[in-house]
Amino acid sequence: MNVLVTGGAGYIGSHTCVELLEGGYGVVVVDNLCNSNPESLKRVQELTGKSLKFYEGDVRDEALLRKIFAENKIDCVIHFAGLKAVGESVAIPWKYYDNNLNSTLVLTKVMEEVGMKNIIFSSSATVYTADNEMPLRENSRTGNCTNPYGWTKYMTEQILSGMANADKEWGIVLLRYFNPIGAHASGCIGEDPRGIPNNLMPYITQVAVGRREKLSVYGNDYDTHDGTGVRDYIHVVDLAKGHVAAVKYVAANKGCEVFNLGTGTGYSVLDMVNSFVSANGVEVPYVITERRPGDIGTCYADPAKSAEKLGWKAEKTLDDMCRDSWNWQKSNPMGYGE
Ligand code: NAD
Ligand code: UFG
Repeated sequence: MNVLVTGGAGYIGSHTCVELLEGGYGVVVVDNLCNSNPESLKRVQELTGKSLKFYEGDVRDEALLRKIFAENKIDCVIHFAGLKAVGESVAIPWKYYDNNLNSTLVLTKVMEEVGMKNIIFSSSATVYTADNEMPLRENSRTGNCTNPYGWTKYMTEQILSGMANADKEWGIVLLRYFNPIGAHASGCIGEDPRGIPNNLMPYITQVAVGRREKLSVYGNDYDTHDGTGVRDYIHVVDLAKGHVAAVKYVAANKGCEVFNLGTGTGYSVLDMVNSFVSANGVEVPYVITERRPGDIGTCYADPAKSAEKLGWKAEKTLDDMCRDSWNWQKSNPMGYGE
C-alpha cells in the first residue's frame, strides 16, 4: 500500500514517513521545501534502511500532482503541506489562505479525477473556540478562530466534510493535533524552525544549547496550578503513529471523521521547564513576561474517541519528550543547517 505524504520533509511529516516505512508502506513525498530541508528525507531513509520517492514541488501545481498520480499507484494521501506560523498569518493573511486552502482544493480535485478518495488532513486544536470546557472533545464548539492560520484549518475541515457529505466514496480523517514536541529517539530527525522559534519546546532547547539567552514565560497570572499556560504536549512519534492508525482507518471506513491527537494531560510552561531541566541536567534561564496576545490559559484533549475508533493512544512520557527534544538539539545545534 502506497501513501502520498504532502509536506513530508517537515517536522511531523518526516517522523510519519519513518513510521510508514517501518510499517511496510510505500512512501511518496511531495514538498516544496518552503519550510524544510531535504536532509530530513535523506535521514529518514538512512534511519529506516528503506527508500522513498521524493518530488520537489508545490501541492498547488495541478500538473505536478497529475504526474505523481500517473507515475505511482497511491492508495491514501496524508496532507501535511501547509504554512503554520500564527503571527505571520496575521501579518500576511492572503499567503495563508492561498497556500493552505488552494493546496487542499487542487489536491482533492486531482484525487477526484483519478478516483482515489482517501485523505488524512492535519488539523489543529486551534479550531476549538476558547470558551469550551476542558477536556476538548471532538464535538466541542469550533470556530471564532483568532487568526487566519486557524481559519484555514477550520475552513479546510468544512470543505472536506462537505465533500464527504456529497460523495459517499470519500474516506476522510481530520486529525486535530494538540502540541507536538520531541523528536525521533535516534536524534537524527527533529524540529528545525527557521528564525526565532514561536513555540515553547524549540525555544527551550535553543536556550539550553546557548543559541538564545533566556526563555520568556508569557504570563503567570492564568487560572492554572502555577499561573502559567497549560497545554497537552504530545510526542511527535506518538503523533506519527496516530497517522498510521488513520491510514488503516480510512482504508476500512468511508465518510468524514474527526479525531483529537493528544494525551489528555496538561502541563504548564513551568512544568515543562522543570521537567526539561531534570530530565537533561541542563540549565534553562527564564523570565516571566506579559501574556502573549491571543493565548488561552488551558487547552487539553479528551483522546477517548481516538482510542476507541483508531485503536491509538499516546504512549510516551513527558520525560521521553524532554529527553528526545534535547537529544535532537544537542546533536544538531543548528538543526539540518549543519
Ligand atoms: P512543517 O512546516 O515542518 O511541515 C510542513 C511542510 O509542508 C514543510 O516541509 C513545507 O516545506 C511544506 N509545504 C508547505 N506548503 C507547501 C506547498 N504548498 N506545497 C508543498 N509543500 C508545502 O510543519 P509541521 O509542524 O510538520 O506541520 C505539518 C502540518 O500539521 C501543517 O499543516 C500544520 O499546520 C499542522 N499542525 C502543526 C502543528 C504543530 O504544532 N507543529 C499543530 C497543529 C497542526
Ligand atoms: N510560551 C512561552 N514562551 C515561549 C513560547 C510559548 O511561555 O517562548 C507558552 C505559551 O504562552 C503557551 C505555551 O507556552 O502557554 C505553549 O505555546 P506554543 O506556542 O508552543 O503553543 P500554542 O499552544 O500557543 O500553539 C500551538 C501551535 C499552534 C496551534 C495551537 C493549537 O503552535 O499552531 O498549538 O493547536 F494552533
